[in-house]
Amino acid sequence: CGIVGVVGNPNTTEILLSGLKKLEYRGYDSAGIYVNNQEGHDALIKRTGKIVNLQNAITNADQGLSGIGHTRWATHGEPSQSNAHPHFSQDRRFYLVHNGVITNFAELKQEYLRDVPFQSDTDTEVVVQLIAYFASTEHLNAQQALQKTLQLLEGSYAFALMDRQEPDKLFIAKNKSPLLIGLAKGFNVICSDALAMLDQTNTFMEIHDGELGVLTKDHIQLFNLEGQTIERQSYKVEMDADDVSKGTYDNYMLKEIDEQPAVLRRISEHYYHNEQASISSQLLTALQQADRLYIVAAGTSYHAGLVGKQLFEDLADVPVEVQLASEFGHHLPKLSAKPFFVFLSQSGETADSRQVLDKVRQLDCPTLTVTNVANSTLAREADFALPLCAGPEIAVASTKAYVAQIAVQAVIAQSLGIQKGLNAAKKIDIDNQLSLAANAIQTIVDQKDYLKQLTHDYFYNQIAAFFIGRGNGYATALEAALKLKEVSYIHAEGFAAGELKHGTIALIEEQTPVVAFVLEKSTAAHTRSNVKEVLSRGAHALIISKKDLSNANDQIVLADIDERLMPLVAIVPAQLFAYYAAVEHGNDVDQPRNLAKSVTVE
Ligand code: G6P
Repeated sequence: CGIVGVVGNPNTTEILLSGLKKLEYRGYDSAGIYVNNQEGHDALIKRTGKIVNLQNAITNADQGLSGIGHTRWATHGEPSQSNAHPHFSQDRRFYLVHNGVITNFAELKQEYLRDVPFQSDTDTEVVVQLIAYFASTEHLNAQQALQKTLQLLEGSYAFALMDRQEPDKLFIAKNKSPLLIGLAKGFNVICSDALAMLDQTNTFMEIHDGELGVLTKDHIQLFNLEGQTIERQSYKVEMDADDVSKGTYDNYMLKEIDEQPAVLRRISEHYYHNEQASISSQLLTALQQADRLYIVAAGTSYHAGLVGKQLFEDLADVPVEVQLASEFGHHLPKLSAKPFFVFLSQSGETADSRQVLDKVRQLDCPTLTVTNVANSTLAREADFALPLCAGPEIAVASTKAYVAQIAVQAVIAQSLGIQKGLNAAKKIDIDNQLSLAANAIQTIVDQKDYLKQLTHDYFYNQIAAFFIGRGNGYATALEAALKLKEVSYIHAEGFAAGELKHGTIALIEEQTPVVAFVLEKSTAAHTRSNVKEVLSRGAHALIISKKDLSNANDQIVLADIDERLMPLVAIVPAQLFAYYAAVEHGNDVDQPRNLAKSVTVE
């Protein structure tokens, strides 16, 4: 979910809507705003579906000087108008938007609010009713009632609250969900992600977990939950509104696929100076002391971790386990004597990863977050953080951040190997490999017409597709299948090429598309025999191979770079298959159904 708020601007409605549109990647089941003109007029508008439905429902009369807004990815309660935010108290005094999950809402409802009629099934409504309950029974003002309520809450939240009795104020609070304050000229704003408000300001202030804020148009006060004042400096965000525009593209996904060569070059520029990677010596020392790395991630980032495992094991000679955050957090395995945790996360906000970070910090394990969002929760809470340098990724299906995650892991792995004096690390020039990979990707994205035609020939009217590979070709197959599923809704699976015959081959029918990645010398022949097995059962096979391993009939031949870095390049045709299949099916490419880019609930 994403939240926004404005205090002290006559264009509040417009700013809220434009902010929500930029946060739509965080969820798009329903959206709503509450605005107040500070002269007795206010309006609450909510709609299911995308922000455009909300926009169409807003009239000229729905203007205000302050307001709050929300775009939702449903957790508690189906996506309906009554479950959409803002939620309000029974006396219609308080209006609240929330990103996060309150875990003890049922107990609180039972204890304090048994007689209160509820409009929705959400945990958020319990919070706003509770604020109203304390305000009226204990004669508290909004700030006091919010503070009292926060002391009772368990779970995660970013809140923005408005009180009809003090409409010139915005009350905010944060615990484990992202929230920022933006300082604009003559007014102030709040948002889940700075990019929502870059049109208004590039000066931001953090609010930390366990803090509450009171904003007016020219004043910001922060408090802890005991009511003591907190001082905080503002900072500038080095991003401008153009970084988050589509430019000449119809959608972000294609723009971001095309940006991948530039991302690899940016990573080289950021990390390499005079042929030395600029990884801090403290981080390298901490990594060197570890007897095992645990890479923790979700979704696409998990697949990048699978590629990273091989890089760390080969270049830095350290054993690596790659773990799904949502599993690992609940079933912590027996850890090695000196574990080191690497969190891979585009957004730096994924709740599944965050809860693992919380756990391992309690065990005093050293941690590194590799993320695309510098001030994100995972970046702040880990001992070390390194940037992906991918630039804002807006399309829900991740492309350039995946490639960046592999590249940055290669940089770290090689630096660690060099620190350990290992030949494997000394022999590879990662800076140069990233440049070769950038050129190889450019060659693929320059063949869009061919890729579009292949997509039509192989995937059009298909209900299932398989991707196979071995080693890092297997990791690539998993990511390729995820991409196709996410945006085209074709059922796709990634398999270890040798494993298909142990069961799943039963699903191969006449014309079933099977895409094989032939990326490693040692297994190329094996993977090709697996392709023969499916061909003889009627499959429509498409081979993506590395040039020096290619055969004359392979449909896509990739320029040669070091085998261990081939996944950087090999995923790109599959990203384009997913993209063109989605376009051909008429799907919303940037915002596929049911998904959200940053999932801040477990
Ligand atoms: C969501 C997104 C995925 C993403 C995953 C992990 O489910 O839809 O595209 O891979 O979260 O996100 P992260 O920001 O932690 O990389």
